Amino acid sequence: MTPCTQLKDLPAFGELQALALALKSADIEGLFAGAPDRTDTYRADAAGLCLDYSKHLLDDAARAKLVELGEQAQLPQRAHALLSGAEINNTEHRPALHSLLRAASAPGLEDKFAEVVATRGRMRHWAERINRGQQTGFSGQTITDVVNIGIGGSDLGPRLVTEALKPFQGDINCHYVANVDPADLQDTLLDLDPASTLFIVCSKSFRTEETLANSLAAREWMLNAGATEADLDKHFLAITTNLAAAADFGISGDNCLPIWDWVGGRYSVWSAVGLSCAIAVGWDHFEQFLDGAAAMDAHFASAPVDQNLPMLMSLLEIWYCNGFAAGNHVVLPYDQGLAKLPDFLQQLTMESNGKRVSAEGAPLSYDTGPVLWGSAGTMGQHSFHQLLHQGTRLCPVDFILPLTTHTGMTGQHRRLVANCLAQSRALLVGRSLEDARASLLARGLSDAEAAHLAPHLAMPGNRPNSVISFTAVTPHTLGALIALYEHRTFCSGQLWGINPFDQWGVELGKEIGTEILGLMEQASGSPRMDPATDQLISKWRQANAP
Ligand code: F6P
Repeated sequence: MTPCTQLKDLPAFGELQALALALKSADIEGLFAGAPDRTDTYRADAAGLCLDYSKHLLDDAARAKLVELGEQAQLPQRAHALLSGAEINNTEHRPALHSLLRAASAPGLEDKFAEVVATRGRMRHWAERINRGQQTGFSGQTITDVVNIGIGGSDLGPRLVTEALKPFQGDINCHYVANVDPADLQDTLLDLDPASTLFIVCSKSFRTEETLANSLAAREWMLNAGATEADLDKHFLAITTNLAAAADFGISGDNCLPIWDWVGGRYSVWSAVGLSCAIAVGWDHFEQFLDGAAAMDAHFASAPVDQNLPMLMSLLEIWYCNGFAAGNHVVLPYDQGLAKLPDFLQQLTMESNGKRVSAEGAPLSYDTGPVLWGSAGTMGQHSFHQLLHQGTRLCPVDFILPLTTHTGMTGQHRRLVANCLAQSRALLVGRSLEDARASLLARGLSDAEAAHLAPHLAMPGNRPNSVISFTAVTPHTLGALIALYEHRTFCSGQLWGINPFDQWGVELGKEIGTEILGLMEQASGSPRMDPATDQLISKWRQANAP
């Protein structure tokens, strides 16, 4: 693999910055007026998802230049390299083969694929065994509750999928514990019976502090309830690359499902890391979830840049981040089941693309991954949408819009959809000073009062947003949606010239945390960090003095 060219060195980049400058004051509604077919031409479809990117500060010339940028960065060739197992994660000397986990076949990657298929078989075995009531605990009771203990990629993906696919859920209740704050585990276990509870210790490394602390506490809870060490296999499964550490914990090889170093944690929901989802929704639905992602992979591999959903969304990310200095990106799923999507995407995008040096280690002179945030619509409308509509920062938005509901409450769902469309349109059209004044006069205000208040009601509009719509949240569309954002993240990493598959930045905090814990565990003596940290350690000692 040839190294990625840095964004600033791609020939189209300079021209794009000039185009962005010119379009800063463009009127998006005017762009619609000048091109009656804009809703059809600024649209791309794949795997059941439809991306409408017509409401952007983008004209045909800028779009063509962005596509040129994608071609100059060799996005199609990079996609091929990713999907075919090239050593794309250059700092850790690994491929990033999450796509293999959802593939139906893998020419050239037969050995790895055989392991994937064997593991799928074992996942299916466990999902069916538990769902059929064949897994019993230490007292002979059937397992009714599964608790996934993991954090980051070993938590966010499975948690999102289980919540989003609730309408497909079977009889087993799946719970998620991530935080080292003991309240997380304690609250979860409050209503559970140890005799009918099974834990999945989900940790690629089996070294993560939070997961180990929670797993040890769960083990103690189980032993205190009457289980013996020999019973632990009835109540614990592990998902890990570190079989030796799992065995030390007391989980036998039969109960350990592997993942591999070529699967990044934040890209791992398709692996055995997704076992809790497969248990929650049943194996057939989990396979449909994999199929949805595979459909997006096929599209990503074959569609030209100007029709390629992940590539177009990535180019839009670059457009706003590096053309308009937008430091953030907002994702608003108008679906309660997708409420955890922004949390999941925060790890996916910010752990991947929050980097300051190129893949070759050279400092970058331009911005990379923006801050991603959001929440389920309509909640944000009553909190942070004020800033989206009238704040001083440019916040490009992705609205995620399933067109139907599983609830059967179509009337109420209609309101939800209307709210989504209204927000998207309000961002586009805004409200002029004149309209604001007229509406105040219509409310009976005097001329003077209306003139005084109008600037507060006026909204600039022209705020860019995409709408990603699909018929319903199904295992298939959810798989496609997550894979879409995975590939978008990859493409942006390639355009910025960085490696999106490592995360060295999380290490220092872990190391310092271990040192501080050591100091806290000393009964006395003056801690030796910086003065502010020392003072807080002393305060903690006082607060926790016996
Ligand atoms: O600390 C970051 C991180 O390594 C993530 O990349 C990963 O998803 C998470 O921790 C959990 O790691 P593990 O699955 O090894 O416990």
